[in-house]
Amino acid sequence: MEFIQAESLRNYWYPVIDVSDVGDQPKKVTLLGADYVVWHTPDGSVAAAPDRCPHREAPLSIGWIEEGNLVCAYHGWAFGDEGRCVEVPSSGQGATVPPAAHLPCVHAESRYGLVWICPGTPVASIPGVPHDDDPAFRRINTGVDVWKTAATRMVDNFLDISHFPWVHTGTFGDGLDRTVPKIELSQLDDDFYGYAYEVDANNPDEANVISGSEESTVHRWMTTGYALPLIVRSTIRYADGLEHILLLCSTPIDDVTSYFTFVVWRNDDHSVDAEETIAFDRAIGAEDKAMLQRVPGTLPLGQTDMVSVQSDRPSVDWRRNFLALVEK
Ligand code: FES
Ligand SMILES: [Fe+2]
Repeated sequence: MEFIQAESLRNYWYPVIDVSDVGDQPKKVTLLGADYVVWHTPDGSVAAAPDRCPHREAPLSIGWIEEGNLVCAYHGWAFGDEGRCVEVPSSGQGATVPPAAHLPCVHAESRYGLVWICPGTPVASIPGVPHDDDPAFRRINTGVDVWKTAATRMVDNFLDISHFPWVHTGTFGDGLDRTVPKIELSQLDDDFYGYAYEVDANNPDEANVISGSEESTVHRWMTTGYALPLIVRSTIRYADGLEHILLLCSTPIDDVTSYFTFVVWRNDDHSVDAEETIAFDRAIGAEDKAMLQRVPGTLPLGQTDMVSVQSDRPSVDWRRNFLALVEK
C-alpha cells in the first residue's frame, strides 16, 4: 500500500491553496488522491467539498459564485453555507430539495494565509506558530507550488542538514562544514519535535536582506522540528536578535506529487519588501526541488529500507513515527 491510502492521514490538516488565490470563484485542489472544490462563503470563511456535484457529478470547481452561493455549471443547482443545496432550478421555486443534494463538506479553515483541509475527523489541530500572534513579526505568504516528488521525501529533506553543503552550493551552503555535530532531539514546543543547532551560513549579497548583515558568513542559531504528519518548522536567529521563521508544508496530491508552500515570519523593520525578503528562500527551495524531483518513487518507510547515519537522526525519528501513524 502506498502511503496516501492510509485512513489515518485523512484525520489531519493540510494546506492546499493560498487564501488569496481562492478569490471570488471556486477553485479545485487535490489532496490524498481526491479532488475538492474550495470557495469563500458569504461570511468570508472558507468551505471545501468533494469536487463532484451530487446531481450528475460535474466538477463544482468549474461553476461560479452567485449571490454567495456556489452554482454548478451543468444544471445550475446552487449550494449555500455548509454546502446546503438551496436551489434546483428545474424543480421551480419552493420545491423540496432531496436531502442527498447537500454537499458533504469536509473540514476547512483558513490559517496563516492558507486554506487547510481535513477530509476526515481532525485528531490534532493545525500546528501552532506563536509568532503569528506576535505583533513584532510580519507574515509573508509565498504561494503554492507543485513538486513532482513524494511529500514524504520532502519532509525527510527538510529535516536533514547534511545536504546543505551539497545541494545548496548556489545559495548558503558553499564551503559549509560538511560534518554534522551530534544531534539531540527534544520537544521544541507544544507541537514541534526536533533539534537545535548552530551553523555558519554563507551570506552572499542576495542573502543580506534576509540576514540583515553584509558579512560574508553569518552565524545562525536554528531549530528544526516536525509536527506529524508532514509539517516542518525551522527557526533561524541571528546575533542581532533578528528572527526568521519558516513553516515548510508538504501536502500529498498523490503518492509522488505534492503541494509545497512555505510561510515566513520575521521580526524585521519591514524596510525590505516581502518578495525581496523571500527571494533567497525561494532559491533555496528550488535547489531542494531540483534534487528531489530526480529521486524516483516514494520514500521507503521501514527502518532498514535505507542506510542511515547519525546526521539522519531527525528524519529517521520522523519516519518511524510517520510509519506508526500510517499503519494505524
Ligand atoms: S451536475 Fe451539477 S447541477 Fe447537474
Ligand atoms: Fe535543503
